[in-house]
Amino acid sequence: MKNGILLFLILAAAFSLSSCGPAENEGGGQALPSEAPTEEATVAPTEVSLPEVEGPVEGADASNTQLVALGEILYQQYCASCHGAELEGQANWKARDENGYLPAPPHDETGHTWHHPDEQLFEITKIGTEAFVGMGYKSNMIGFEDQLDDTEIWAVLAYIKSQWSPRILKAQPK
Ligand code: HEC
Repeated sequence: MKNGILLFLILAAAFSLSSCGPAENEGGGQALPSEAPTEEATVAPTEVSLPEVEGPVEGADASNTQLVALGEILYQQYCASCHGAELEGQANWKARDENGYLPAPPHDETGHTWHHPDEQLFEITKIGTEAFVGMGYKSNMIGFEDQLDDTEIWAVLAYIKSQWSPRILKAQPK
């Protein structure tokens, strides 16, 4: 007898849950007046507006919060697909693939980005590793000079550096 009641309660609960769906949809359907959505659609931002950076930028200044904010957006847009959303790099990044290409290294403290001075990181990002190393070196690290201006490259590097500990920042060669 008890089981019967329990089953009834479960069925009743399930039924009232499932009946929520159509009711809500109906409500949503009714809340679509013909004029209102058009205005909303034109207001909706299609492009993310990038943070302003004041003053001339000459370097990857990780203490410049405007620069770091800009760099974070650009990093996620241009670099994260290979270097990872958390700067973690690709799996087995120290091993070349069957074609001799290295995977993307991490930009956090476990990688060797911090072994390079800012100027080198800037050059690598701007012209790509093939041009940077020369001598026919093959690399999947393309240059970003057609996509990012100098301020934007410094911004990305400032963001990367903002993720390093004070110890690593100090250890980076100047
Ligand atoms: C298509 C994948 C890809 C994208 C996108 C990419 N990288 Fe790379 N990156 C690589 C690879 C692969 C390497 C290693 C290249 C090598 O040594 O042959 C690398 C290496 C580097 C290095 C040298 C690191 C070191 O320790 O020597 C820097 C700096 C760098 N990338 C910065 C960037 C920045 C900044 C962006 C975004 C603006 C970016 N990368 C976007 C693939 C990529």
